[in-house]
Amino acid sequence: MSNDFIVQTSDLKRIFEFGESEIFALNGVKMDVKRGEFVVVLGPSGAGKTTLLNMIGGIDQPTEGQVIVDGEVISDHSLSELNAYRRKDVGWVFQFFNIVASLRAWENVGLALEFSGGYTKVEIKEKSFEILKQVGLEGKEDRFPSQLSGGEQQRVAIARALIKKPKIIVADEPTGNLDFVTGQQIAELMRDLNHQEKTTFIVVSHDLSITQFADRVFHLRMGKIEQIEEQPQSNFTKKVPGV
Ligand SMILES: Nc1ncnc2c1ncn2[C@@H]1O[C@H](COP(=O)(O)OP(=O)(O)OP(=O)(O)O)[C@@H](O)[C@H]1O
Ligand SMILES: [Mg+2]
Repeated sequence: MSNDFIVQTSDLKRIFEFGESEIFALNGVKMDVKRGEFVVVLGPSGAGKTTLLNMIGGIDQPTEGQVIVDGEVISDHSLSELNAYRRKDVGWVFQFFNIVASLRAWENVGLALEFSGGYTKVEIKEKSFEILKQVGLEGKEDRFPSQLSGGEQQRVAIARALIKKPKIIVADEPTGNLDFVTGQQIAELMRDLNHQEKTTFIVVSHDLSITQFADRVFHLRMGKIEQIEEQPQSNFTKKVPGV
């Protein structure tokens, strides 16, 4: 398999048994994501977006087919291997932020490093402050989530995903709970971080406006990729000097 791809799925199926019936949430998905790419998976409600992200992000396992991340066949992983993969290699960003209400912004971010281990308390605080500055939250490090706007809470969640330097960041409707302008700012932030850090982003959404930030858009419908669209402004299609 080519090393240019950080994520590869082949003939991916996820079938849910529901009473007598079977639901083909994913029905043969082939998806290759290049290293450092920013991809958006676009599709209507029920298309299988969350199901696909759960397979790639190590939350669920496919019924058939393979998921390969950085050369590792994660769809063959045991539960404990999958947990380790999720903790170390994947940064998750959710629609409803999923940050801990009783922890300050920097403590929420630092939690990701505590889980991976090997850092002193002082180092964790320093690194958390550094990343919070990078996502535009300088001066707000000590606030609790209730003292932050929705957009700011999502910035905390993005900082938490970023701090462990994961192989991929996966985001499930990251703008879904934000107004249009704030949603655009969050999408722009993710795109900037993608450029600066060269971290691969896989964002699923039903929001068409987010696609302007993507290198490629995968259109998912009824558990299948119907179309792959290359964006004209993509770094992968134009030559950028020095990059
Ligand atoms: N645990 C489950 N048990 C049974 N069916 C499920 C389960 N999870 C998802 N499904 C079904 O699989 C299909 C895909 O669901 P999924 O949540 O991936 O869609 P989605 O594209 O993320 O939708 P949305 O935009 O509404 O979040 C749907 O028909 C859904 O009802
Ligand atoms: Mg979903």
